[in-house]
Amino acid sequence: MKALGIDIGGTTIKAGIIDETGNLLLRKIVPTNRSLMEQLKEIIRTLMKNGNISCIGIGSAGRIDPQTGHVRFATTNLSNWSDVPLKTVIEDSFHLPTVVINDANAAAFGEWFLHYRDTSSLVLLTIGTGLGGGIVINGRLVEGERGEAGEIGHVILHSDGKQCNCGKKGCAEQYISMRIIHEKVASSKGKSLDRFELIKAFNEKDPEVIKAVEEVCSDLAQVVDWIFNFIDPENVIVGGGIAELGEDFLKILRSKLAPYAKHSLYEPSNIKLAKTGNDAGIIGAALYSMYKNAKI
Ligand code: BGC
Ligand code: NA
Ligand code: ZN
Repeated sequence: MKALGIDIGGTTIKAGIIDETGNLLLRKIVPTNRSLMEQLKEIIRTLMKNGNISCIGIGSAGRIDPQTGHVRFATTNLSNWSDVPLKTVIEDSFHLPTVVINDANAAAFGEWFLHYRDTSSLVLLTIGTGLGGGIVINGRLVEGERGEAGEIGHVILHSDGKQCNCGKKGCAEQYISMRIIHEKVASSKGKSLDRFELIKAFNEKDPEVIKAVEEVCSDLAQVVDWIFNFIDPENVIVGGGIAELGEDFLKILRSKLAPYAKHSLYEPSNIKLAKTGNDAGIIGAALYSMYKNAKI
Protein backbone atom coordinates (compact mmCIF):
# COMPACT_ATOMS: atom_id res chain seq x y z
CA MET A 1 0.00 0.00 0.00
CA LYS A 2 1.35 3.36 -0.99
CA ALA A 3 -0.07 6.85 -0.57
CA LEU A 4 1.11 10.20 -1.75
CA GLY A 5 1.64 12.82 0.96
CA ILE A 6 2.02 16.55 0.39
CA ASP A 7 2.77 19.35 2.83
CA ILE A 8 2.08 22.84 1.51
CA GLY A 9 4.04 25.48 3.36
CA GLY A 10 4.65 29.16 2.75
CA THR A 11 8.27 28.52 1.73
CA THR A 12 8.36 25.00 0.34
CA ILE A 13 6.12 22.21 -0.83
CA LYS A 14 7.23 18.84 0.44
CA ALA A 15 5.88 15.70 -1.14
CA GLY A 16 6.57 12.01 -0.91
CA ILE A 17 5.40 8.46 -1.20
CA ILE A 18 4.60 6.74 2.06
CA ASP A 19 3.77 3.12 2.85
CA GLU A 20 1.16 1.99 5.38
CA THR A 21 3.72 1.83 8.18
CA GLY A 22 4.69 5.46 7.64
CA ASN A 23 7.98 4.80 5.80
CA LEU A 24 8.93 7.58 3.45
CA LEU A 25 9.89 5.85 0.21
CA LEU A 26 10.57 8.92 -1.89
CA ARG A 27 10.77 12.64 -1.21
CA LYS A 28 10.56 15.79 -3.32
CA ILE A 29 10.94 19.36 -2.05
CA VAL A 30 10.34 22.45 -4.18
CA PRO A 31 10.04 26.15 -3.36
CA THR A 32 6.39 27.27 -3.27
CA ASN A 33 5.58 29.41 -6.29
CA ARG A 34 2.64 31.58 -7.14
CA SER A 35 0.68 29.19 -9.33
CA LEU A 36 0.34 26.78 -6.48
CA MET A 37 -2.40 24.62 -7.99
CA GLU A 38 -0.47 23.99 -11.21
CA GLN A 39 2.61 23.24 -9.19
CA LEU A 40 0.76 20.74 -7.04
CA LYS A 41 -0.61 18.90 -10.06
CA GLU A 42 2.84 18.74 -11.59
CA ILE A 43 4.30 17.23 -8.40
CA ILE A 44 1.49 14.68 -8.18
CA ARG A 45 1.90 13.76 -11.85
CA THR A 46 5.63 13.18 -11.36
CA LEU A 47 5.27 11.15 -8.18
CA MET A 48 2.47 9.04 -9.62
CA LYS A 49 4.88 7.72 -12.23
CA ASN A 50 6.22 5.53 -9.44
CA GLY A 51 3.01 3.56 -9.75
CA ASN A 52 0.49 1.95 -7.47
CA ILE A 53 -0.60 4.96 -5.46
CA SER A 54 -3.88 4.23 -3.64
CA CYS A 55 -4.76 7.66 -2.28
CA ILE A 56 -3.53 11.20 -1.72
CA GLY A 57 -3.23 13.19 1.51
CA ILE A 58 -2.58 16.92 1.42
CA GLY A 59 -1.76 19.05 4.45
CA SER A 60 -1.98 22.80 4.07
CA ALA A 61 -1.71 25.74 6.41
CA GLY A 62 -5.07 27.38 7.01
CA ARG A 63 -8.66 26.48 7.70
CA ILE A 64 -9.72 23.43 5.74
CA ASP A 65 -13.38 22.42 5.65
CA PRO A 66 -13.36 18.87 7.04
CA GLN A 67 -16.45 17.84 5.03
CA THR A 68 -15.46 19.16 1.62
CA GLY A 69 -11.66 19.42 1.73
CA HIS A 70 -12.05 23.03 0.67
CA VAL A 71 -9.31 25.48 1.72
CA ARG A 72 -11.37 28.24 3.35
CA PHE A 73 -8.49 30.61 3.96
CA ALA A 74 -4.78 30.35 4.55
CA THR A 75 -3.86 33.97 4.10
CA THR A 76 -1.60 33.92 7.15
CA ASN A 77 1.38 32.29 5.49
CA LEU A 78 0.16 31.61 1.95
CA SER A 79 -1.23 34.60 0.16
CA ASN A 80 -3.90 33.91 -2.49
CA TRP A 81 -4.67 30.50 -1.03
CA SER A 82 -8.31 31.13 -0.17
CA ASP A 83 -11.55 29.49 -1.23
CA VAL A 84 -9.84 26.69 -3.10
CA PRO A 85 -11.85 23.48 -3.68
CA LEU A 86 -8.61 21.52 -3.39
CA LYS A 87 -10.01 18.03 -2.76
CA THR A 88 -12.41 18.26 -5.72
CA VAL A 89 -9.80 19.62 -8.11
CA ILE A 90 -7.27 16.92 -7.23
CA GLU A 91 -9.83 14.08 -7.33
CA ASP A 92 -11.16 15.27 -10.69
CA SER A 93 -7.64 15.45 -12.11
CA PHE A 94 -6.19 12.22 -10.75
CA HIS A 95 -9.17 9.97 -9.92
CA LEU A 96 -7.71 8.97 -6.58
CA PRO A 97 -9.43 9.42 -3.20
CA THR A 98 -7.94 12.59 -1.71
CA VAL A 99 -7.98 13.95 1.81
CA VAL A 100 -7.11 17.57 2.55
CA ILE A 101 -6.33 18.63 6.12
CA ASN A 102 -4.58 21.38 8.02
CA ASP A 103 -0.76 20.94 8.09
CA ALA A 104 -0.51 20.85 11.89
CA ASN A 105 -3.41 18.39 12.08
CA ALA A 106 -1.55 16.16 9.63
CA ALA A 107 1.59 16.31 11.76
CA ALA A 108 -0.42 15.57 14.92
CA PHE A 109 -2.05 12.53 13.37
CA GLY A 110 1.29 11.27 12.03
CA GLU A 111 3.03 11.68 15.37
CA TRP A 112 0.21 9.90 17.19
CA PHE A 113 -0.01 7.08 14.64
CA LEU A 114 3.71 6.42 14.53
CA HIS A 115 4.77 7.05 18.11
CA TYR A 116 1.85 7.46 20.51
CA ARG A 117 -0.73 4.86 19.54
CA ASP A 118 -0.39 3.42 23.04
CA THR A 119 -1.81 6.69 24.40
CA SER A 120 -5.27 8.02 23.69
CA SER A 121 -4.59 11.72 23.30
CA LEU A 122 -2.07 14.36 22.36
CA VAL A 123 -1.89 17.94 21.21
CA LEU A 124 0.90 18.76 18.79
CA LEU A 125 2.18 22.28 18.30
CA THR A 126 4.13 22.97 15.18
CA ILE A 127 6.38 25.95 15.60
CA GLY A 128 8.07 27.15 12.46
CA THR A 129 7.31 30.25 10.43
CA GLY A 130 3.90 30.17 12.10
CA LEU A 131 2.33 28.47 15.08
CA GLY A 132 -0.10 25.64 14.38
CA GLY A 133 -1.81 23.02 16.48
CA GLY A 134 -3.42 19.62 16.05
CA ILE A 135 -5.54 17.62 18.50
CA VAL A 136 -5.93 13.85 18.76
CA ILE A 137 -8.46 12.59 21.29
CA ASN A 138 -9.38 8.93 21.76
CA GLY A 139 -7.25 8.14 18.75
CA ARG A 140 -9.19 10.49 16.50
CA LEU A 141 -8.10 13.71 14.92
CA VAL A 142 -10.35 16.55 16.06
CA GLU A 143 -10.90 18.82 13.08
CA GLY A 144 -13.83 20.80 14.48
CA GLU A 145 -17.06 21.86 12.82
CA ARG A 146 -15.38 24.36 10.55
CA GLY A 147 -11.88 22.97 10.43
CA GLU A 148 -10.71 25.48 12.98
CA ALA A 149 -9.92 23.17 15.88
CA GLY A 150 -6.30 23.52 16.94
CA GLU A 151 -5.84 27.02 15.48
CA ILE A 152 -3.92 28.04 18.58
CA GLY A 153 -1.65 30.43 16.67
CA HIS A 154 -4.45 32.94 16.42
CA VAL A 155 -5.65 33.19 19.99
CA ILE A 156 -4.81 36.55 21.54
CA LEU A 157 -1.84 36.33 23.87
CA HIS A 158 -1.14 40.03 24.39
CA SER A 159 -4.21 42.21 23.98
CA ASP A 160 -3.72 45.05 21.53
CA GLY A 161 -0.32 43.58 20.74
CA LYS A 162 1.48 43.03 17.45
CA GLN A 163 -0.55 43.09 14.25
CA CYS A 164 -1.10 39.59 12.85
CA ASN A 165 -1.63 38.73 9.18
CA CYS A 166 -5.00 37.24 10.11
CA GLY A 167 -6.32 40.70 10.94
CA LYS A 168 -6.27 40.52 14.73
CA LYS A 169 -3.72 42.04 17.07
CA GLY A 170 -1.60 40.19 19.61
CA CYS A 171 -2.02 36.64 18.26
CA ALA A 172 0.14 33.94 19.85
CA GLU A 173 1.83 33.39 16.46
CA GLN A 174 3.30 36.90 16.65
CA TYR A 175 5.21 35.91 19.81
CA ILE A 176 5.86 32.21 19.41
CA SER A 177 7.62 31.12 16.22
CA MET A 178 11.06 30.54 14.78
CA ARG A 179 10.59 33.76 12.84
CA ILE A 180 10.28 35.64 16.15
CA ILE A 181 13.40 33.98 17.61
CA HIS A 182 15.31 34.99 14.46
CA GLU A 183 13.98 38.55 14.73
CA LYS A 184 14.93 38.89 18.38
CA VAL A 185 18.43 37.56 17.73
CA ALA A 186 18.86 39.86 14.74
CA SER A 187 17.89 42.90 16.75
CA SER A 188 20.16 42.13 19.70
CA LYS A 189 23.13 41.15 17.52
CA GLY A 190 22.59 43.70 14.79
CA LYS A 191 22.81 40.93 12.18
CA SER A 192 20.68 37.97 11.29
CA LEU A 193 21.72 34.34 11.65
CA ASP A 194 20.55 31.60 9.34
CA ARG A 195 18.92 28.47 10.69
CA PHE A 196 22.18 26.56 11.09
CA GLU A 197 24.04 29.45 12.70
CA LEU A 198 21.19 29.93 15.12
CA ILE A 199 21.14 26.27 16.20
CA LYS A 200 24.91 26.28 16.57
CA ALA A 201 24.89 29.48 18.63
CA PHE A 202 22.14 28.07 20.83
CA ASN A 203 24.12 24.88 21.43
CA GLU A 204 27.16 26.97 22.28
CA LYS A 205 25.02 28.84 24.83
CA ASP A 206 25.28 32.21 23.11
CA PRO A 207 23.60 34.52 25.69
CA GLU A 208 21.61 36.54 23.12
CA VAL A 209 20.23 33.42 21.50
CA ILE A 210 19.42 31.83 24.87
CA LYS A 211 17.61 35.01 25.91
CA ALA A 212 15.50 35.01 22.74
CA VAL A 213 14.59 31.35 23.23
CA GLU A 214 13.74 31.99 26.90
CA GLU A 215 11.43 34.85 26.00
CA VAL A 216 9.61 32.76 23.44
CA CYS A 217 9.42 29.86 25.90
CA SER A 218 7.78 32.12 28.51
CA ASP A 219 4.93 32.85 26.12
CA LEU A 220 4.85 29.27 24.88
CA ALA A 221 4.57 27.94 28.45
CA GLN A 222 1.41 30.01 28.92
CA VAL A 223 -0.14 28.52 25.81
CA VAL A 224 0.88 25.00 26.82
CA ASP A 225 -0.66 25.51 30.27
CA TRP A 226 -3.95 26.59 28.61
CA ILE A 227 -3.90 23.45 26.52
CA PHE A 228 -3.35 21.16 29.50
CA ASN A 229 -6.07 22.88 31.49
CA PHE A 230 -8.52 23.02 28.64
CA ILE A 231 -8.05 19.66 26.90
CA ASP A 232 -5.99 17.63 29.39
CA PRO A 233 -4.21 15.56 26.74
CA GLU A 234 -1.79 12.89 27.88
CA ASN A 235 1.08 14.85 26.28
CA VAL A 236 1.71 18.09 24.44
CA ILE A 237 4.24 17.57 21.67
CA VAL A 238 6.35 20.34 20.15
CA GLY A 239 7.39 19.92 16.53
CA GLY A 240 8.39 22.11 13.59
CA GLY A 241 11.65 24.00 13.17
CA ILE A 242 11.93 24.89 16.85
CA ALA A 243 12.30 21.20 17.78
CA GLU A 244 15.70 21.27 16.06
CA LEU A 245 16.95 23.19 19.11
CA GLY A 246 16.67 19.87 20.92
CA GLU A 247 16.88 18.88 24.58
CA ASP A 248 18.22 22.19 25.88
CA PHE A 249 15.21 23.96 24.40
CA LEU A 250 12.94 21.41 26.06
CA LYS A 251 14.68 22.04 29.38
CA ILE A 252 14.03 25.78 29.13
CA LEU A 253 10.40 25.21 28.18
CA ARG A 254 9.85 22.76 31.04
CA SER A 255 11.38 25.22 33.51
CA LYS A 256 8.99 27.96 32.32
CA LEU A 257 6.10 25.51 32.60
CA ALA A 258 6.97 24.27 36.10
CA PRO A 259 5.45 27.21 38.04
CA TYR A 260 2.14 26.69 36.20
CA ALA A 261 2.20 22.89 36.38
CA LYS A 262 2.60 23.13 40.15
CA HIS A 263 -1.05 24.17 40.35
CA SER A 264 -2.32 21.42 38.06
CA LEU A 265 -2.12 17.66 37.75
CA TYR A 266 0.02 17.50 34.61
CA GLU A 267 3.81 17.49 34.91
CA PRO A 268 6.40 19.47 32.94
CA SER A 269 7.58 16.07 31.65
CA ASN A 270 4.26 15.78 29.79
CA ILE A 271 5.63 18.23 27.26
CA LYS A 272 7.81 16.44 24.73
CA LEU A 273 9.67 17.01 21.49
CA ALA A 274 8.16 15.53 18.32
CA LYS A 275 9.80 12.31 17.15
CA THR A 276 8.73 12.73 13.55
CA GLY A 277 11.05 15.34 12.08
CA ASN A 278 10.57 17.71 9.19
CA ASP A 279 8.66 15.12 7.17
CA ALA A 280 5.86 14.96 9.75
CA GLY A 281 3.47 16.88 7.49
CA ILE A 282 3.83 14.64 4.42
CA ILE A 283 3.86 11.42 6.43
CA GLY A 284 0.89 12.51 8.53
CA ALA A 285 -1.18 13.61 5.53
CA ALA A 286 -0.49 10.35 3.68
CA LEU A 287 -1.27 8.22 6.74
CA TYR A 288 -4.46 10.15 7.34
CA SER A 289 -5.60 9.60 3.77
CA MET A 290 -4.99 5.85 4.15
CA TYR A 291 -6.81 5.87 7.47
CA LYS A 292 -9.78 7.83 6.10
CA ASN A 293 -10.02 5.53 3.16
CA ALA A 294 -9.91 2.59 5.58
CA LYS A 295 -6.74 1.26 4.05
CA ILE A 296 -4.93 1.08 7.40
C1 BGC B 1 -2.00 28.90 10.33
C2 BGC B 1 -2.30 27.45 10.64
C3 BGC B 1 -1.08 26.60 10.38
C4 BGC B 1 0.15 27.17 11.05
C5 BGC B 1 1.40 26.38 10.71
C6 BGC B 1 -0.76 29.33 11.06
O1 BGC B 1 -0.48 30.66 10.74
O2 BGC B 1 -3.10 29.72 10.73
O3 BGC B 1 -3.40 27.01 9.90
O4 BGC B 1 -1.34 25.30 10.84
O5 BGC B 1 0.34 28.51 10.68
O6 BGC B 1 1.64 26.36 9.34
NA1 NA C 1 -4.54 22.76 13.16
ZN1 ZN D 1 -3.56 35.91 13.94
